[in-house]
Amino acid sequence: MNAKYDEWDITVSVGLTALAACSARAVESDRPDRLVDDPYARDLVLAARAPKPLPTSVAEANAAPDSMMSSRFTGVRSRVFDDFFATSALDGVRQAVVLAAGLDVRAYRLPWPPGTVLYEIDQPGVLQYKAEVMQHLGVAAGCDRYAVGVDLRKDWVSALRAAGFDPARPTAWIGEGFLPYLPAKAEADMFSAITALSAPGSQVCVEFMPTDVVERFAAHPTMQGTSDSLGVDIGDMWNAEPRQAAADRLREIGWNVTVDSVLDRGRRLGVPLDEEFAGIVDMLGVPRDSALAAVFGECAFVTAQLPR
Ligand SMILES: C[S@@+](CC[C@H](N)C(=O)[O-])C[C@H]1O[C@@H](n2cnc3c(N)ncnc32)[C@H](O)[C@@H]1O
Repeated sequence: MNAKYDEWDITVSVGLTALAACSARAVESDRPDRLVDDPYARDLVLAARAPKPLPTSVAEANAAPDSMMSSRFTGVRSRVFDDFFATSALDGVRQAVVLAAGLDVRAYRLPWPPGTVLYEIDQPGVLQYKAEVMQHLGVAAGCDRYAVGVDLRKDWVSALRAAGFDPARPTAWIGEGFLPYLPAKAEADMFSAITALSAPGSQVCVEFMPTDVVERFAAHPTMQGTSDSLGVDIGDMWNAEPRQAAADRLREIGWNVTVDSVLDRGRRLGVPLDEEFAGIVDMLGVPRDSALAAVFGECAFVTAQLPR
């Protein structure tokens, strides 16, 4: 990410991307065949009074075809991370960390086993906004939730520890819709820190986009056009510095890694995203039969475990 993005709340710069993801969840939740049911997404979007209105229903999304995020992709992605936490809970993990939480309300909407402690990390202004709306709605978290307002390019480990995080307990970590915002070094440091803080039996799940894809998005003027629905330039916020793929890095530092391509996961969930991906490839001016087009198929959910 460009260094000029230092701080933000929900209605400016990077914060607006959390609002866009939340809008896509609201739309997906409105579908009869939804993959996620987020009962708070609509209120979280509307209360922000964003500079440009974002859709919160299927009808509104259909009337705004340039909205930045597809509800179907967001449905697949939401389900993947919901299922990840369900599995980690079954495995007995009772400590969770949501990296770059944005307006993720899993602390409020998932059925957590008693004794679960969950830490959300994001910019203070973003977490503050979410807490205020949820309080206004009169909804309490179903676990012990702690907001850790800190920049993930800085010393977030001290902030997490100060909030009570216990490195002796196995932890389930997620990073959804987040890695492209990090500079290469901050990402490498983050995976090292996660590993250092993870007791045996810990698990992690991140959404991965190959650098070639991030670069293509970041450099392409269409991204600016796509961002018009938000009023910000998403490409300018993403960081296309070359870096080791998340799966390779995690493997190298001791994790057992599983890579599940977004397309495969979508198909298995009954929501083929092939046409959607092909549309993105076309939009970016990439020939469908090129090597670069094939790289889009490497967008994946990367899940990893530390042996017990
Ligand atoms: C596209 S949103 C995704 C939010 C959430 N994970 C979701 O899927 O709804 C990206 C999030 O990353 C957060 N973010 C980006 N860079 C960050 C940084 N350096 N430190 C903390 N949070 C960051 C933003 O504030 C935003 O909430």
